[in-house]
Amino acid sequence: MISPEHAKFLVGNYAHPAIEITHGEGSKLWDSDGKEYLDFTSGIAVTNLGHGHPQWTQAVTKQASQLVHCSNLFSIPEQVRLAKRLVGKIGPGKVLFCNSGAEANEALLKLARYVGNKGDKSNKNKVVVAENGFHGRTLGALSATQSPKYRKGFEPLLEPFTFAPLNDFEAFSQAIDDDTIAVLIESIQGEGGIYEAESIFLQKISALCSQKGVLLLLDEVQAGIGRTGDFLGYQKAEITPNAVAMAKGLGGGFPIGAIWIDQRYCDTFGPGSHGTTFGGSPLACSAAHAVLDVLEKEDLIQAAKKQGSYFKNQLKQRQQAFPSLFTEVRGRGLMLALACHQDPGPMLKDLRELGLLLVGAGGNAIRFLPPLTVSKEEIDLALALFDQVLSSHQVSSD
Ligand SMILES: Cc1ncc(COP(=O)(O)O)c(C=O)c1O
Repeated sequence: MISPEHAKFLVGNYAHPAIEITHGEGSKLWDSDGKEYLDFTSGIAVTNLGHGHPQWTQAVTKQASQLVHCSNLFSIPEQVRLAKRLVGKIGPGKVLFCNSGAEANEALLKLARYVGNKGDKSNKNKVVVAENGFHGRTLGALSATQSPKYRKGFEPLLEPFTFAPLNDFEAFSQAIDDDTIAVLIESIQGEGGIYEAESIFLQKISALCSQKGVLLLLDEVQAGIGRTGDFLGYQKAEITPNAVAMAKGLGGGFPIGAIWIDQRYCDTFGPGSHGTTFGGSPLACSAAHAVLDVLEKEDLIQAAKKQGSYFKNQLKQRQQAFPSLFTEVRGRGLMLALACHQDPGPMLKDLRELGLLLVGAGGNAIRFLPPLTVSKEEIDLALALFDQVLSSHQVSSD
């Protein structure tokens, strides 16, 4: 049961929650009434190892007893080692740590500004962004987010951002002009409803950006860290962006954000130009090391690909069987969505009551974001619960 003090003491910026969560293990969560749930939200693509993975818990507990925080006044061995590991997975360059997805995107946008304000590039400050994207709630990241749903009431936002439809290369090439310093894209739009950037589109944009001297920035905050079946979603397209934002899954539940910057731009920020007190703390970096260790040891990126392809096929069968409810299945790996004709809210509520937790996404979609450790049996259980609600929501034409 939700405490009446929830609404009394917490600012009402989130929808009032229906349940109160007290603990979790693996793919499961329990509420304060002792009810068990299958968690296919992963805290919105964060707890990629599931809840309380023993190796993660041990690493974080050990680090907490050793050193939690000391600030970037000092070199932090776990941070150096994590930067080296990320460079190994992404490409030659350097890493800057922060604490969240919005902050990581903010750092990408500040990188673009800084480059644009330097040398022969003065006055280049326009950023071209995909329509329907989501980059976070801070003023810079919000300015790069087109939907009025998030922007309303917070204007005036930063300028100049121009929006073009995802996968529409012509529209992007028209939007990129002499004032443009960067292009910012999610490899799979998460909040927008699981819309994939096609590889061919990313390849053409990448070529255009290098030809025009425009920075290509990738927001991998939701799609990154193995969820799509690649370490980062854009890697499927075999392109090399100039900088990448990561967060969510990187800490496995402990807040950490990071940007990777390629060799050309990685020395742009000099001492004092940008920073954060908490970014890359020993504890946050140890959590991220544990995530990477488990991803490697348990081969979770391959698992995401394999389980995701099984899950997607199963969802497609439901979509075909219930055309009055669903329009299509989108996504790849364990970042999937069933697009609905109507608001999926009532179906999500019924599923929650049956014990399956899912989260909606833009454009009337139901998102499926199980942990990368999810088993086939758990996917089958989720599907069985799903099947139980389908007939009651069915429209007579099916
Ligand atoms: C693609 C993307 N970028 C940025 C963000 C913002 O991340 P955070 O909520 O950690 O600030 C999100 C959050 O959902 C996201 O999905």
